[in-house]
Amino acid sequence: MRVVVVGLGYVGSVCSACLASRGHTVVGVDLSEFKVGCIERGRSPIVENGLETLISEARAAGRLSATTDIARAMPGAEVVLVCVGTPSAPDGSLDLDHVKRACAEVGHGIRSSGTFTTVVMRSTMLPGSVEGELQPVLERATGLTAGRDFGVAYNPEFLREGTAVADFFGAELTVIGAADPQSAAALRRLYDGIGGELAVTSIRTAEILKYANNAYHALKVVFANEIGRLCKREGIDSHQVMDLFVRDTRLNLSAYYLKPGFAYGGSCLPKDVRALRQRARARDLELPVIEAIVPSNDRHVEEAIHLIERFRRRRVGVLGLSFKAETDDLRESPILRVIGTLVGKGYSVLLHDPNIDMERVLGANRKFVEEELPYLPERLRPDLREVVEGSDVVVVANPSKEYRAVGALLRSDQVLVDLVHAVDRASVTRGEYHGLAW
Ligand SMILES: NC(=O)c1ccc[n+]([C@@H]2O[C@H](COP(=O)([O-])OP(=O)(O)OC[C@H]3O[C@@H](n4cnc5c(N)ncnc54)[C@H](O)[C@@H]3O)[C@@H](O)[C@H]2O)c1
Repeated sequence: MRVVVVGLGYVGSVCSACLASRGHTVVGVDLSEFKVGCIERGRSPIVENGLETLISEARAAGRLSATTDIARAMPGAEVVLVCVGTPSAPDGSLDLDHVKRACAEVGHGIRSSGTFTTVVMRSTMLPGSVEGELQPVLERATGLTAGRDFGVAYNPEFLREGTAVADFFGAELTVIGAADPQSAAALRRLYDGIGGELAVTSIRTAEILKYANNAYHALKVVFANEIGRLCKREGIDSHQVMDLFVRDTRLNLSAYYLKPGFAYGGSCLPKDVRALRQRARARDLELPVIEAIVPSNDRHVEEAIHLIERFRRRRVGVLGLSFKAETDDLRESPILRVIGTLVGKGYSVLLHDPNIDMERVLGANRKFVEEELPYLPERLRPDLREVVEGSDVVVVANPSKEYRAVGALLRSDQVLVDLVHAVDRASVTRGEYHGLAW
């Protein structure tokens, strides 16, 4: 394909060289004469493993050139990759000025491209930036309509400096955010033959994904460092600890716990996080991320209460009381705080849980129920239908199998609040569905 790469910094120069080495014809554009000159001489404008070899080979094969004049680059351009910087503004917000300017210049060249051109943002930008801010710039500059006359897409860059070339060729996942099929098809062709999975999604999903990735990476760094500081204070070898930590690929390094749902609870996480936090405090150690776990979890519970209260309906049915399905352990189940608040505010609350049998609970845990859950005995019902029928707002609070299709029981005047992302949306044919964080 004929590809234009705007911005020959860390992202753009790697993209240019790697795509040229895959057989595409690439023209790089930068305001910097130095960077353009480097590429033209077959040299790398940045220090990056293996890049200079790729650039000189691509130059020699006639597949890579560079210019400061975007108008000269645009004829024949099927794909334009915008890789200019998106720095922080003084208040920490995102500065899109460079991208806007680059898009205006690209836009002026689109009419002269002589082909269907897809403009692909690769710079990191917040959701809504492409469709809300850059597409209008392109449409103004071209006088054309995006999605019909030219394409717009977002393709987040996941490379790491230092291993950028290896990351490009060994990518596990390439994400394409596209609003029209032509743009998605153009990017599929561009990356054809590159290993790993290629996922096509919406532009906004692709935009936020990059931030979810980087926030998580930053969180991993500070988490490991906090565990390290605590271990050092305890006289424990933190590397030995984390070497073992990363060997658990079932719970630690896995997809587990990484889907938005309800707050954590149960008999272990709450008490163990508290104990760890308390030990750090006692050692006079500041561990802000570990400190923030409890308030963040509490905030999520409050969000659930706000969501339920928002409908201003008095009869609430709660399905699922234990902190996860298939257990009758009620200790520190976060939904109990929601129920306690609603009962305290005078809501009429009915409860259901397939694993909680009042006689057994009272037999084994009478004291706990009498002290902590005095409202439970008179509100718990064995019949799911009775709870749903007697409620204005039905809250699903654990992913028991029998709640999956609960939408089918709903009347059109009822509201379903799903706190655990467990309800089959297709079952909700009447009434309203509201998720907690989705
Ligand atoms: N560096 C990384 O490892 C990395 C990884 C993933 C994503 N990103 C994102 O990619 C984007 C680019 O990052 P970078 O590190 O390559 O930036 P960079 O500062 O190294 O390069 C940006 C280049 O764009 C050029 N430029 C600016 N305006 C231009 C214009 N109107 N026309 C032509 N060229 C123009 C600049 O001269 C510069 O050479 C940023 O949004 C960044 O957040 C960076």
